[in-house]
Amino acid sequence: MAVCRLRSILVLVVSSAALIWLFAGTAPAASPDTDASPDTNKDTYDWKLPHGFPKPYVPPDNPMTAAKVELGRYLFYDTRMSVNGTQSCATCHKQELAFTDGRPVGVGATGEHHSRSAMSLVNVAYSAALTWSNPQLKALEEQALTPMYGDHPIELGLIEGDAFLPTLRADPKYQTLFERAFPTKDNDKDGDKGNDRITRQNVTRALASFERSIISGRSPYDRYHFDRDDNAIPAAAKHGEALFFSSPLSCFRCHGGFDFSGATVSEANPNREIEFHNTGLYNVSGLLSYPAPNVGIYEYTKSKEDVGKFKAPTLRNIAVTAPYMHDGSIATLEGVLDHYAAGGRSIATGEHAGVGHDNPNKDPIIGGFPLTAQDRANLIAFLESLTDRELLNDPRFSNPWTK
Ligand code: HEC
Ligand code: HEC
Repeated sequence: MAVCRLRSILVLVVSSAALIWLFAGTAPAASPDTDASPDTNKDTYDWKLPHGFPKPYVPPDNPMTAAKVELGRYLFYDTRMSVNGTQSCATCHKQELAFTDGRPVGVGATGEHHSRSAMSLVNVAYSAALTWSNPQLKALEEQALTPMYGDHPIELGLIEGDAFLPTLRADPKYQTLFERAFPTKDNDKDGDKGNDRITRQNVTRALASFERSIISGRSPYDRYHFDRDDNAIPAAAKHGEALFFSSPLSCFRCHGGFDFSGATVSEANPNREIEFHNTGLYNVSGLLSYPAPNVGIYEYTKSKEDVGKFKAPTLRNIAVTAPYMHDGSIATLEGVLDHYAAGGRSIATGEHAGVGHDNPNKDPIIGGFPLTAQDRANLIAFLESLTDRELLNDPRFSNPWTK
């Protein structure tokens, strides 16, 4: 009897604790940003987060506001942000291609080729580290400076002190947009002092805010998985899902979680370390097993075991972001599956000849597996179910200059 009573008390305690936990966990999500405080330093942005998505981490010195997102969108699509007026961020990050460019590697404003492929920007707000293989680059505000001002390779080709900021300052459209986005003047720390709010720092803040707003979570798979609509995806995709999430394919071990990517960060969990993996794409002869300059995080760590280790990118919208991998060296999803089924692809001839399967740094999970024609079709159907057509056509992310 006593035991019985004790147990029911325990159940009561545990279940009310669970309830409290449940409410504590869901309360902020249920009414995320309804606080319309006039304080512009407060995060009042309405994320419209899909089911299953946590609130993104936002750096305290650049809170999200609708006005900043709007300004960032104008900047993202503005070709005046390049040395010769030919390119903007959107040249290499096109909405209809889930913010990639359809090319193997990026091509900058002056025709210079990047060594790596333009990455999708969807859900980049959650990325624990930016670009294919830079463990140190974490802030979107900082990343934007590379395409804008970087010269190795030249992307947009801006130079400090050039006509870019004066051009923005002379444009009444931007005067209004900047005023709304940055109501209090905040002088730039890097060189534009005294020139009110149209500064390089505010440009990158606005770009970062726009990028954070690009959230993809309305695919058929989301309707199936998070909204419990069993008819949202075909049976083939459900079989593909089972393969993806089980051994020996084990795709989910690296492309896991709501974003099907490596480590993601969020407001609740902002400091997670990211893992990088060598998938056995190459095994070239010479000092390093991957062809330079794309040697993975070795570029930063200089540890030999880090050669060929890259970020596992999101697989959301993967069906529209060909060609694949850090250097765009696989043309189709079928080709990607061949690479994994072989446990690392082999290249027979040429300067990249080698058996990727035998790369010394290859992740042990990439062991290879048999793949029937049916399995293959099912996996592709699953990957296709991750395409978020609403995002690809969402007017909030389209070119504001042509509307
Ligand atoms: C010439 C083509 C090109 C242009 C223009 C360009 N990008 Fe990129 N972008 C790339 C390439 C290539 C990468 C991969 C870089 C790497 O791995 O080093 C990339 C990566 C990124 C990433 C990292 C995404 C991730 O998932 O880690 C962000 C963010 C980004 N670009 C934002 C921008 C912004 C903002 C602009 C405009 C200021 C811009 N890009 C202009 C080609 C371009
Ligand atoms: C050990 C970790 C790991 C496993 C397991 C893994 N991947 Fe990957 N995946 C990666 C990494 C890392 C990259 C980027 C590699 C590169 O570019 O060198 C990648 C790239 C990709 C790409 C190309 C992404 C793009 O934007 O170009 C696709 C598609 C993909 N993986 C699908 C799969 C599928 C399907 C499986 C299961 C059969 C799988 N992955 C298993 C780590 C992994």
